[in-house]
Amino acid sequence: MNETLERWHSRRAFILAVTGAAVGLGNIWRFPYMTGENGGSAFLLLYILFVVVLGLPMMMAEILIGRAGRRSPMQALAYLANEAGASPHWRWIGLFGALTVFFILSFYSVVSGWSIEYLVDAVNGGFVERTPAQIGSAFDAFLADPLRMTFNHTLFMLLTMSVVAAGVSNGLEKLNNVMMPLLYVILIVLGGYAVTTAGFGAAMAWLFTPNPAAIDLQVVLNAMGHAFFTLAVGACALMAYGAYMPEEQSLPRAVCAVALLDIAVALLSGIAIFSVVFTHGLDPTEGPGLMFVTLPIAFSELPGGQIWLGAFFLLLLVATWTSSINLAEPMVAMLIGAGWRRGRAALLIGALVWAVGLLSVLSFSTLADVHWIGEMNFFALVSTVPPDIFLPIGGLLIAIFAAWRMLPEAAASALGGPAAGFRLWRGVVRYVSIPLTAVVLLSSLI
Ligand code: TRP
Repeated sequence: MNETLERWHSRRAFILAVTGAAVGLGNIWRFPYMTGENGGSAFLLLYILFVVVLGLPMMMAEILIGRAGRRSPMQALAYLANEAGASPHWRWIGLFGALTVFFILSFYSVVSGWSIEYLVDAVNGGFVERTPAQIGSAFDAFLADPLRMTFNHTLFMLLTMSVVAAGVSNGLEKLNNVMMPLLYVILIVLGGYAVTTAGFGAAMAWLFTPNPAAIDLQVVLNAMGHAFFTLAVGACALMAYGAYMPEEQSLPRAVCAVALLDIAVALLSGIAIFSVVFTHGLDPTEGPGLMFVTLPIAFSELPGGQIWLGAFFLLLLVATWTSSINLAEPMVAMLIGAGWRRGRAALLIGALVWAVGLLSVLSFSTLADVHWIGEMNFFALVSTVPPDIFLPIGGLLIAIFAAWRMLPEAAASALGGPAAGFRLWRGVVRYVSIPLTAVVLLSSLI
């Protein structure tokens, strides 16, 4: 009946797919610069708190809806709402999710394109014997070149949409299976290198010494949004994956494993990046360019740095690829649900996302000073509002549906495990995750 219902041949495949969705630019690129811009430890500790009390339970809510509905997100929501005698309008959460990932993918692809550029540069020896200052100005020159950026953005969208068009393939699962562990190895090597740098102590102090004075509403909102973003929660993207989850698998266990890994990757890259920042007197609040300036410096100081750097960007590319495939899935699943063929749906969505992505490309040159809201240019807008506001709104609605509206038996059996586990999960979602998300959102919107 449904063309999207194919895959996940094993428990391992499901965990890999969700890990692939979770681990990406959010951990390696966005986490460090958000931490830098939001006062270091203040942001870090809130982010971990939000992952545990909001992200994890809501991730379970989202996946269990997909698992109980066994359909594409909008259809699953409609089906479960009907089963519970609730309003059919709950299904619009699926549309809202598709809209959210649309904007997220449009900048995600542009930044992933930066990794393609750096991969090619690294392979060509572009970073040999460069000083930190030269590395910084080369990045600025790249950003100022819309043609090169468009080329990489286009390439990345083609990579993503060709896999989506084919259906999330076995091949990619296997690639992921090999590449992700290698990425962790490189990050651990980088972490080991960070320990030897002069800035390591300062980086650790800055990341881990509690600093309540730096916490304000903006920091809280950003940390909450990032928890959703990094876990890929709040846009029905994991819901789409939940539909293919094997019956016998434990959802809470799978989700906890993914979240732990996700935090570990973020911490390792944060430690590596800030050690370089403090060793070289760079600016932690540098913003989206942070990783692209600090990591080439770090690698250039390692023996065989060129090779490590190339390998790192290759693996990062694979990590972002699996994330972007997940980002595209809710939109494509929605069109398939409306009767489209997968290939056509992928083509249309890909073309639209690509076109809107051009506005992000130009935000680093021609449109840099065109402000859409407040001081924000297009890139600043799409890289903050959809992750930090739309995802929590989506997550909130998903959680309300799962914990208050769905038939409890349906939710419990999709969550799996003992009845006490279900009650604990529902209690946390009802009385902690939902109110906390609502309070943070409301106080930041007022
Ligand atoms: N979690 C991914 C990252 O950290 C991004 C991502 C993938 C995402 N799928 C998503 C974010 C769905 C929101 C919704 O890079």
